[in-house]
Amino acid sequence: MLRALILGGTGMIGGATARRLAAVGWRVEVTGREPGRLPPDLIEAGVRFHAADRADAARLREVLGEGADLLVDCICFTADDARLLLPLAERATSTVLVSSKAVYADAAGNHANSDTPPDYGGPILESQPTMAPGDMDYRSREGYGPNKVAAEHVALDSGLPISVLRPSRVHGIGSTRPREWVFVKRVLDRRPAVLLSARGEGIVHPTAAVNIAALIETVAHRPGARVLNSADPDAPSAREIAKTIARQLGHFWDEVLLDESADPGLGRTPWDAPHPVVLDTTASLELGYKPVGDYAATVAEEVDWLFDVYRAGDPDGLLPAPDDPYFAGFLDYPAEDAYLANG
Ligand SMILES: NC(=O)c1ccc[n+]([C@@H]2O[C@H](COP(=O)([O-])OP(=O)(O)OC[C@H]3O[C@@H](n4cnc5c(N)ncnc54)[C@H](OP(=O)(O)O)[C@@H]3O)[C@@H](O)[C@H]2O)c1
Repeated sequence: MLRALILGGTGMIGGATARRLAAVGWRVEVTGREPGRLPPDLIEAGVRFHAADRADAARLREVLGEGADLLVDCICFTADDARLLLPLAERATSTVLVSSKAVYADAAGNHANSDTPPDYGGPILESQPTMAPGDMDYRSREGYGPNKVAAEHVALDSGLPISVLRPSRVHGIGSTRPREWVFVKRVLDRRPAVLLSARGEGIVHPTAAVNIAALIETVAHRPGARVLNSADPDAPSAREIAKTIARQLGHFWDEVLLDESADPGLGRTPWDAPHPVVLDTTASLELGYKPVGDYAATVAEEVDWLFDVYRAGDPDGLLPAPDDPYFAGFLDYPAEDAYLANG
């Protein structure tokens, strides 16, 4: 029986990966700090939980024991994290480090977290330049990308069979920032209209957690040192995402497509981008990866999960709080109502 150990395996990406591997007969073990985060279906599937802080090298070594066929690190954010991963990776046949498309820089040095949005000039290949590595606070907007780059360098320079995966905007069950909430919430609030800035044409490639899981299973059987983009087969616009979610929930609303003359605060969505951000996934496909489905097919489980948690009264506080600053700007109903009343 093949053995997989997933660091940070009770979250969105780790959970999807554990679910997929357990379903095809792997012995799956996950780490985290809080055992209660392990979803019930994973417990039923035989997934085993180990309490282990990501910074506790000795404990992780103990959990890994004699080794594993696959080691997945969902919580590697810095060069130090990556250095701690290496002795573990030496005992694994194939290792995966979950990085991010936030590492990519455009020709002007702009990136996912710069004030000026990036313009990559087309789909992004893995050979696209990245930001310079850095070690400022990785939890800050300016520190996230440089620290991920530094972590990638440590992993790739080691010569170990570590696959660095670069997902884009991840969606799935258990998301701690479920961006689709901006449309699900509108349906729950029975909003009669959806306002979309820049005609809803913004594109930032989505990545289903289940599609990352499929890619992880592929690289488990093809160990190697490499970088791979991870994204859904399609890259829908904000308008298409809104339509997909409303359709799934059986809701009808008027689309109000705003142009550049509108107040820039109106109709914003998490997918706003003046230039499309699309990952080229040819390298993953050539390795044998087969996506589980396109955006509409794969986002359905997250939308159902959000809906069900809401209907159940959200006993575990999984949904974004009403005052969550990330979502507030996307759900400004008074400003929308004022615009519609004057329109
Ligand atoms: N979400 C996105 O859109 C996106 C996009 C690109 C890349 N990524 C990358 O994806 C990864 C995040 O994956 P995710 O969305 O699956 O995360 P997640 O849902 O937040 O899950 C994080 C997991 O790590 C565990 N964990 C957190 N801190 C820990 C610590 N100090 N020690 C031990 N365990 C810890 C959590 O459990 P406990 O809290 O119980 O410890 C949980 O199992 C990151 O590497 C991120 O950079 C995410």
